[in-house]
Amino acid sequence: MTWGAWGKQFSQKEMETIIHHCMANGITTFDHADIYGAYTTEKEFGTAFKDSGINRDDIQLISKCGIQYVCDNRTNEVKHYNYSKDYIIWSVEESLRHLHTDYLDLLLLHRPSPLMVAEDIAEAITILKKAGKIRDFGVSNFTPSQMEMIGLRIDIDVNQLEFSLTSHSAMHDGTLDYMKTCGIKPMSWSPLGTVFKNDNEQTRRIHKQLGVFMEKYNATEDQLLLAWILKHPSGIHPVVGTTNKKRLTQAVDATKISLDLEDWFAVLVASQGHKVP
Ligand SMILES: NC(=O)c1ccc[n+]([C@@H]2O[C@H](COP(=O)([O-])OP(=O)(O)OC[C@H]3O[C@@H](n4cnc5c(N)ncnc54)[C@H](OP(=O)(O)O)[C@@H]3O)[C@@H](O)[C@H]2O)c1
Repeated sequence: MTWGAWGKQFSQKEMETIIHHCMANGITTFDHADIYGAYTTEKEFGTAFKDSGINRDDIQLISKCGIQYVCDNRTNEVKHYNYSKDYIIWSVEESLRHLHTDYLDLLLLHRPSPLMVAEDIAEAITILKKAGKIRDFGVSNFTPSQMEMIGLRIDIDVNQLEFSLTSHSAMHDGTLDYMKTCGIKPMSWSPLGTVFKNDNEQTRRIHKQLGVFMEKYNATEDQLLLAWILKHPSGIHPVVGTTNKKRLTQAVDATKISLDLEDWFAVLVASQGHKVP
């Protein structure tokens, strides 16, 4: 999302360079969605990947479908969601064409729709799996009851959620507990939350607390924010959005940081502005 038109607007050469940098650091999974860059970024990545000389089997490609975005590349007049069987299959085939691949490692339904029909979704996913066009299936931004409704018809492997130190309702409202119970893997988007986006009382408290721990853990603020997520027992996989090579390398090293129990709570308290009850 951050590499193309909605982010740094990398050239093909720059995309190739950053793909190689990721691979050299052990980052092999790339998170896409059909809509990123108003339906342009998958294609740019696909072209860069095709010319990168990297084997398809050495990477994992995630993409998403369902959001019908209003832009020059579509005829939509109202932003909406479409999870009809035919649309899901068509959208995946478009992603495959753009990414120059014959399969996705993981397909996610981007956002829940009030009009989604579990049977239609299950049928589309079964057809795509049988054809070898997707390997795993998941959802994004789904509540426990939405996961349950779909999960009764077709296995859900992943739910990609907004989760960070500044957006952690999923660990209080039963979402992560439900996923752990059912064996659905969590991924977190925007894992750094608003910490570098906003300057307010909350982010100032967080910076102050992280400042104390930077020396103790010999870590940067971004690494501590990732380590905070990684300590959650549901096994959250952060989707790192930085385009900065040094921060990408540091993000991988964050997996080696184990926050002490009280330090994890101290960081939570800094975010909340009050102690736990
Ligand atoms: N499923 C969904 O609904 C959904 C929604 C949104 C996003 N996503 C996915 O999640 C990915 C990550 O989301 P995100 O980009 O919001 O994640 P993020 O990793 O929380 O944020 C990345 C942003 O923070 C900046 N940043 C990182 N470290 C910084 C620092 N130390 N100081 C200042 N700025 C810093 C980065 O700038 P630099 O590039 O300059 O480092 C980049 O703009 C997206 O790329 C997309 O694939 C999914």
